[in-house]
Amino acid sequence: MKGDGRRGGPVIAIDGPAAAGKGTLARRLAAALDLPHLDTGLLYRAVGRRVLDAGGDPADPAAAVREAEALTPADLARLNLRAAEVDRAASLVAAIPAVRARLLAFQRCFADPRGAVLDGRDIGTVVFPDADLKLFVTASDEERARRRWRELEGRGVAASFETVLADLRARDARDASRDVAPLRPADDAIVLDTTDLDPDAAFARALDIVREKFARA
Ligand code: CDP
Repeated sequence: MKGDGRRGGPVIAIDGPAAAGKGTLARRLAAALDLPHLDTGLLYRAVGRRVLDAGGDPADPAAAVREAEALTPADLARLNLRAAEVDRAASLVAAIPAVRARLLAFQRCFADPRGAVLDGRDIGTVVFPDADLKLFVTASDEERARRRWRELEGRGVAASFETVLADLRARDARDASRDVAPLRPADDAIVLDTTDLDPDAAFARALDIVREKFARA
């Protein structure tokens, strides 16, 4: 049994800053390896959404914990979890230790018994410190903002590139400077810089890393 209490299939942790391409990569790796995939950002987004819908302040611990406790699977399937106000609300609720504690057991159970690919900010550092493989996916601020801006454009959401870049930097700064589970690569994470890689090239590189790791294991 691993130190985090886990038995069973492999756990792959994919962490990194906003819009680094973690989600796409995690989904594709999970499909290729036939493992379940969890986008853990959705949990924080859903809590933030619930607080906003209730008219509360996402930085208020009591309101955020109340909504984290009331979270249901249906909240994760909502369509408006990627709106700009939810980006901000998610990173505010995510800085509250009791909210993170509340969401921890669900994330750990998710990988039981088949293993899983999970993407987020603290998967390799806190949720699964004994993960079988840890990737820290990153890219330059400008490239990540370009990706997020194009994604917004594709959804018909008007936003200036400068605003997207400033919001993304503010969120990264908040995620990296919080006291609990700050965004940072685990000591044993492999860093994958995708600044000059398109999604196919990033996937191919990640798959090479996975094969190399599991061939050696
Ligand atoms: O898709 P994007 O990378 O922009 O964000 P996300 O992965 O959906 O995460 C939204 C927010 O949730 C982040 O800015 C973090 O504040 C928080 N989060 C976290 O604290 N820990 C995680 N494991 C995942 C997300």
